[in-house]
Amino acid sequence: MDILINIRTSAAFLIIAALLVTQPVAAEGDAEQGRELGFTCLGCHGIEGQRNAYPTFHVPRLGGQGSDYIATALRHYRDGTRSHPTMHAHASSLSDDNIDSLLAWLETSGSASDIATAEQVEGVAAAKICVTCHGADGQGVVPQPPVLAGQHADYLVRALHEYKSGKRSGNVMVAFAASLSEEEIEIIANYYASQDGLETLDR
Ligand code: HEC
Ligand code: HEC
Repeated sequence: MDILINIRTSAAFLIIAALLVTQPVAAEGDAEQGRELGFTCLGCHGIEGQRNAYPTFHVPRLGGQGSDYIATALRHYRDGTRSHPTMHAHASSLSDDNIDSLLAWLETSGSASDIATAEQVEGVAAAKICVTCHGADGQGVVPQPPVLAGQHADYLVRALHEYKSGKRSGNVMVAFAASLSEEEIEIIANYYASQDGLETLDR
């Protein structure tokens, strides 16, 4: 009897442990509704090479980006924590249900998982810390950090400048970006951009 209980308890423990490790993303949205809501998004995120008008930089790739990070980004644009006039305009009309639906649709664009190697970054001591969260291959090792592999280099540079200047504040990146020199930013951005990973959304 005791043995049976022990087996049951350890089975339950294993299941809980597995759940904790896989950290399921709670996107129960309606992918069809997401596709409709996402139609306007494709006007920028679905065009290869599309740029932000001013300052000029590539619109970030979303195909394969993690759901947790996309949801956080949209909420931050919505509440103004992260400022960008166009993204604020798009996000401000989204309810939490709308965001879940967008995530369900965006998940159909797959997850970035290709691994590429690049030698350049080995010379950058500052990059060693980055991989503890963003992964050596640019894939996040915990759910929240965004995938960097395959992102546009000029967008990564912009993002790092925004953390450095405090324009994108209230998150762990502020401390990590602060110590990077301009040269290191360029090298790290090119390193992650050279990897296979994120893609422009299919139209
Ligand atoms: C007019 C062009 C345009 C449209 C339309 C647009 N976006 Fe964006 N989006 C951008 C730009 C430019 C950025 C980068 C802004 C910044 O630097 O914070 C961005 C950033 C994002 C990010 C953050 C990505 C990251 O890596 O941090 C998400 C998520 C996003 N957009 C989702 C959407 C969704 C969902 C829609 C539709 C509801 C949408 N966008 C519509 C131009 C656009
Ligand atoms: C402790 C974990 C952690 C470490 C270490 C870390 N990051 Fe991040 N990174 C994050 C998180 C979390 C975010 C999302 C922050 C937000 O919401 O803006 C992020 C966001 C980013 C972004 C923005 C991507 C986008 O799509 O907008 C870039 C670029 C980035 N990190 C680069 C780096 C670099 C380069 C390093 C090393 C110097 C580094 N990170 C170290 C956790 C980390």
